[in-house]
Amino acid sequence: MVVSIKKETDEVQLQNLVEWLKSLNLEIHRSEGEFETVHGLVGGSLARALSESGKHEIYGFDINRSSILAAKLVGAIKDELNEKTISECDIIFVALYPKDTVEYICNHAPLIKKGAIVADCGGVKRTVCDPCDSPQRRYGQQNSGKVGFIMKTVRVSASKEYDVIIGSGIINSLGENCVELFGKCRAIVITDSNVAPLWLDKAVSSLKAAGIDVVSFVFPAGEESKNKETLFEILEFMAENRLTRTDFAVALGGGVTGDITGLAFSLYLRGIGFVQVPTTLLAAVDSSVGGKTAVNLTAGKNLMGVFAQPSLVLCDTNTLGTLSEDVFADGMAEVIKYGVIFDKELFDNVKNGISDILEDIIARCVELKRDVVAKDEFDKGDRQLLNFGHTMAHSIEKCSNFEISHGKAVAIGMVIAAKASYTLGWSEENCTEEIIEANKNNNLPCECNYSPEELFDAALSDKKRAGDTITFVVPKKTGECILKKISVNVLKEIAKLK
Ligand SMILES: NC(=O)c1ccc[n+]([C@@H]2O[C@H](COP(=O)([O-])OP(=O)(O)OC[C@H]3O[C@@H](n4cnc5c(N)ncnc54)[C@H](O)[C@@H]3O)[C@@H](O)[C@H]2O)c1
Repeated sequence: MVVSIKKETDEVQLQNLVEWLKSLNLEIHRSEGEFETVHGLVGGSLARALSESGKHEIYGFDINRSSILAAKLVGAIKDELNEKTISECDIIFVALYPKDTVEYICNHAPLIKKGAIVADCGGVKRTVCDPCDSPQRRYGQQNSGKVGFIMKTVRVSASKEYDVIIGSGIINSLGENCVELFGKCRAIVITDSNVAPLWLDKAVSSLKAAGIDVVSFVFPAGEESKNKETLFEILEFMAENRLTRTDFAVALGGGVTGDITGLAFSLYLRGIGFVQVPTTLLAAVDSSVGGKTAVNLTAGKNLMGVFAQPSLVLCDTNTLGTLSEDVFADGMAEVIKYGVIFDKELFDNVKNGISDILEDIIARCVELKRDVVAKDEFDKGDRQLLNFGHTMAHSIEKCSNFEISHGKAVAIGMVIAAKASYTLGWSEENCTEEIIEANKNNNLPCECNYSPEELFDAALSDKKRAGDTITFVVPKKTGECILKKISVNVLKEIAKLK
């Protein structure tokens, strides 16, 4: 066996590992600095380069399952490293805090195939908490002092101030955080039928452990549930359970759960406390922050809603680890969108698939949304920049009878908007190709089969239309967008340029 050890590995731990390996009569090769390009993420450039060489089957292990998912998505690894796959693989990347890497390798050594390469590539960008520091008190033993642990907080300042906390494993701190905000009261956790079997127990246990009395409400997963019937069922359930104004609601799920719970909490007793626990990437980077809530009406999407900010957003990135690749990709469309609108560096970090720590990417998106919401909470000006790609996206969703998801529709809508903006002479640079590449590298589509007439017709019923004009988001170049009022006739031209 060859063991490559990264130079950041703690010297004492390294010695222990070397001694232990020597005792097993194995060949040891130290390749200091060799993995300089790996950023503490299993899906880093090394894994990707090796997978592209096609000579190895690569499996990854990381404490954060969303990193594994991201790595799989960009084709950097074949699958997660587990008890079964470990015995099959040729190269093993372990991205853990050094002492845990030693423990991990010791525990798994009997299973590792003879001749396999084990590479420790953890810890480069990861923020490692001091085991005795306050995070241990705040987030519990499980997330501190044991493994590398990332936690970021973004403070949002709108009509209400609140924190967006992003980190792996922090669902266990939900109860503590809520008690700080609301005291020991009652809570209703609202979630959908897909999320309930995966994450409801964890959320409820944390709330109960903190002394909060909990009831939960589960509705059938899917956009079809985002309607007035589900909304009224939730309201009736809250009333049956005698929730009072001092109690609060938790939205545990994706954008559908967040939007519907957000509206329910603001209507029940004219408003109770509200916490968002986003479990999709889309909800984490977009819908859980900024206070837009809504349900769909027969005539269209999101037609009934209010602006109502939550008291806390707690995003446990481990929950993203149970998402399908498809739903994860939907969120990437929104991440790419933030990059094109505001931040070229963010765009560059995701255009070839995620090449940074997922928590950093989510936090950056939340910061960008925070800034725009602080300027224009009620969507009268700059907040409309967030609609980049959305005019055509809404048409595509509508034409597909909502078979095409919001994220995929936004991906296609961004391509159409960039192409049209350049062709019509509104952009300084043509960013169409860059967006197409970014979409492809993130498992997102770039075109649709609907005719310009179908798209235009659907766009006419867009709720963002004001009389004969529509506000269109134009990319001047990647990282900078502007708002442009255009007439519906021009929109017709845009649909033709698709
Ligand atoms: N309020 C806003 O500012 C805003 C912004 C953008 C989008 N939205 C709304 O968000 C909705 C789309 O959000 P979405 O894509 O999160 O949809 P979603 O909530 O329907 O989630 C997508 C799917 O993933 C499942 N899921 C969620 N978390 C999971 C997990 N951790 N593991 C496994 N499966 C999981 C869900 O059950 C669902 O099947 C739309 O209704 C859109 O209008 C709102």
